[in-house]
Amino acid sequence: MSALMHLIYSSAATQVFTPEDLAALLALARKKNASLAVTGMLLHIDGSFLQVLEGEPEAVDGIFRTISADPRHTQIVTIIREPIPRRAFSDWSMGFAEVTAEELADLDGANDFFTGGACLTRLNSGRTKKLLGAFKEGRWRSRLSSASMAASAARREPALRERPPISFAFQPVYDASEHTIVSHEAIVCGPDGGPPDAALNQCHTAQDRARLDMEARVLAIGLAARLALPTGLTLSLRAHHADQAAQALRSVLDTATQCGIEADRITIAIDQDQLIGDPIAFASIIQQYRGAGLKICVDHFGAGRSGLSQVETYQPDSIALDENLVRDIASNGPRQAIARGIIQTCDDLGIDVIARHVCIPAEYDWFRQEGVSLFQGPLIGAPKFETLTRDLPSPAQWLP
Ligand SMILES: Cc1cc2nc3c(=O)[nH]c(=O)nc-3n(C[C@H](O)[C@H](O)[C@H](O)COP(=O)(O)O)c2cc1C
Repeated sequence: MSALMHLIYSSAATQVFTPEDLAALLALARKKNASLAVTGMLLHIDGSFLQVLEGEPEAVDGIFRTISADPRHTQIVTIIREPIPRRAFSDWSMGFAEVTAEELADLDGANDFFTGGACLTRLNSGRTKKLLGAFKEGRWRSRLSSASMAASAARREPALRERPPISFAFQPVYDASEHTIVSHEAIVCGPDGGPPDAALNQCHTAQDRARLDMEARVLAIGLAARLALPTGLTLSLRAHHADQAAQALRSVLDTATQCGIEADRITIAIDQDQLIGDPIAFASIIQQYRGAGLKICVDHFGAGRSGLSQVETYQPDSIALDENLVRDIASNGPRQAIARGIIQTCDDLGIDVIARHVCIPAEYDWFRQEGVSLFQGPLIGAPKFETLTRDLPSPAQWLP
């Protein structure tokens, strides 16, 4: 299990930094970082800094304590501190870029923010993730990270002694801004495509059910690999206890590796309402596996116990809005107000919003107008038995 994390902060300089000052600061920083296996990058613009520090938690926190006590800058704000599966700046003990406000304003979607004299000290985590994304894609970097996307192990289906009588339908998750299918959710069904009654009837206890769910996820990954899945894969997790979740996520990770599907293509959709054990222990397991690369989605958001407090607890990559919030949204004022609040919060935190169970064009249109780009539901594409969706009609055909 990887024990890497990154910490991203912004600060404002208390003095003018000449090129010589910056060179001296970087020379010392690089030497010290290299000795502690800390990598990262530092952006400087108009007297403000944004720095990414990545490495083992103890080393990163230690260096950050020293940096925080440095009187040459102030207003130090930690924007993100979270586990990561791998380094994004593995080739730099401390990359450095002097960036202009114009270059930042050029960033997709951030134009309104960076014009008018705003600087790095006013970044929130959503903007920061956008900025880092651009940086990782090569902007302001003379060379890209050498982080290898090494070819995975040879594809093979997981061996199971006795398979439960189930199979899967795959429903597409659509990104409207790119007009692409970004993931498929594996939905359990019977071996003939009907309801999985035979398998469910064999479950007499909660433990039986948990075992079936675990086997189902393993089989879903195997089937997706056989179908040469080109997208992400979404799997639901309905664990009741932290140790069940740990076992389930371990098996997902191992099976994905065996099948040649990278961990970061797998999204685990958590249904918080199933949890009856200690939520803190559960969240800590989730974070651990997020650190290993799995993506986390809080499912049924806005219903039951899945609300904004989950966002803080799990720091998910995405949330999927509950169908009761999506249904008839175009004509329901209170639902619109709630959905707008959630969308705004997620935008500030850099969390993707998925509008689930979208059935009619008016629902799609409303969420699209509010800036949501991820959709799932019958309007976009129904679940298909043992089949992936390769092509979608253009949204123009759904809209009135
Ligand atoms: C914006 C900024 C970024 C810095 N980044 C680092 C860094 O990545 N690594 C580091 O060792 N020191 C960094 N420093 C310098 C530290 O604050 C500190 O001066 C240096 O580590 C020497 O500390 P020491 O004398 O306690 O060993 C940075 C300082 C500033 C103002």
